Amino acid sequence: MVMTPADHQEGQNARLMPQDLAIDTLGRCLLPSPVTRHLGQRGVKFVGEADKVLFDDSISSLSLSLGQTITDPSSLPAFELAGPRDKIFFDPRTLRCGIVTCGGLAPGLNNVIRGIVLELWAGYGVRQIVGYRFGYEGLIARLGHQPMVLTPESVASIHHEGGTVLGTSRGAQDAGEMVDNLEANGIGILFVLGGDGSMNGALSLSAEIARRGLRIGIIGVPKTIDNDVPFIDRSFGFVSAYSAAVDVIHSARIEALAARNGIGMVKLMGRHAGFLACQAALASTEADLVLIPEVPVVLEGNNGVFACIERVLARKGHVVIVVAEGAAQNLIVDPDAAPGRVGSRDKSGNAKLKDIGVFLRDQILAHFETEGRETTVKYIDPSYTIRSIPACPSDSVYCWDMARNAVHAGLAGNTAMLIGRWHGHFVHVPMALASSKTRTVDPDGDLWMSVIESTGQPREFA
Ligand code: F6P
Repeated sequence: MVMTPADHQEGQNARLMPQDLAIDTLGRCLLPSPVTRHLGQRGVKFVGEADKVLFDDSISSLSLSLGQTITDPSSLPAFELAGPRDKIFFDPRTLRCGIVTCGGLAPGLNNVIRGIVLELWAGYGVRQIVGYRFGYEGLIARLGHQPMVLTPESVASIHHEGGTVLGTSRGAQDAGEMVDNLEANGIGILFVLGGDGSMNGALSLSAEIARRGLRIGIIGVPKTIDNDVPFIDRSFGFVSAYSAAVDVIHSARIEALAARNGIGMVKLMGRHAGFLACQAALASTEADLVLIPEVPVVLEGNNGVFACIERVLARKGHVVIVVAEGAAQNLIVDPDAAPGRVGSRDKSGNAKLKDIGVFLRDQILAHFETEGRETTVKYIDPSYTIRSIPACPSDSVYCWDMARNAVHAGLAGNTAMLIGRWHGHFVHVPMALASSKTRTVDPDGDLWMSVIESTGQPREFA
């Protein structure tokens, strides 16, 4: 039997007509909405009558709803649905698989490793599974890292700890040397758990494999607590990370409450994307000000950071600030980070960030001193604490499903793809497509609007 997305929505796949989904209204809406009034110049993206979400968005179900076959489904852009296929490409009895974890930690890495091993072993009967140590370094034979043999027993309880039992590292390695190793070890599928840099590495691997005409599949499982991988609603570990951040924001508030004109400030990871800061602030409900890389920050001015702090202090007597590490980088003068300077980039090629938390703390203190007023800033940087925790229950389930779908995709002979999630379905995303974009918070979108409505801060700093 072939599965459709509707089959995955258990209990919801009865045939429905449009009228079954229509919402009753009390009458025509004639009054202009005031929602724009406090939202600055750019206005709000209002929802129109045509903004509907299809009950079932699979092409097969669309044909059914329209009462006619869509004659050329290939003309519609559509992701392949993830899941088990009735025919597979690799013979599990002889297949040898590898797993590698790359880049920074994220809660749930061990869950995904465990899930891949269990699905390979129990679902398909694969008996040869190895874990490469310390990221792509582990695939470079001359560096001498011995791969770990992975079995259901060896991974049984690894998910109770954060981090990755395989170890990780940043930075690219030579694709030719890595493929030499995969070939020499008879690997049929390599599962790569990593972020954007690691997916670029995986693409180079796939290209080298294709150039040599080898039959080695490369399957990516996107990993980043920045949640900036496109074509995926949320990356694994994100819920765990922002839930942990909520406790820290609460501590910052308690500290702020205890001081006269108290200011509590928490810095969270998020190099180019402020998803973690936004979501943690929303979940905590205790943040008064959120600063993210996507929204330019000014300190002075009527709607600058200082004025916002003053207003909240006047109203509540204390302020809680959540700042993403990539926010307001342009404000910080740091001679060590001059372009081209050795050491100004990490091994993944990312520009090393200047510490916005320390900078803001010092600027706020200086501002209050100039004004002749007393304040206390309690600055907390929990970055690595948050990243290294075990996955929360919701992420545990999510990691398990990611892992299962990665295995199904690999066994079916797919390659140069990663597991994504689109409209609530696990899907296959071409790696080249995912690597060509990054996801950031839309300053005109609903997430940012939700943050400013929750905090009461201005939509833009000016
Ligand atoms: O993986 C992305 C990330 O979480 C960024 O938010 C952060 O800048 C980076 O990792 C820091 O990781 P590390 O210190 O391990 O290089």
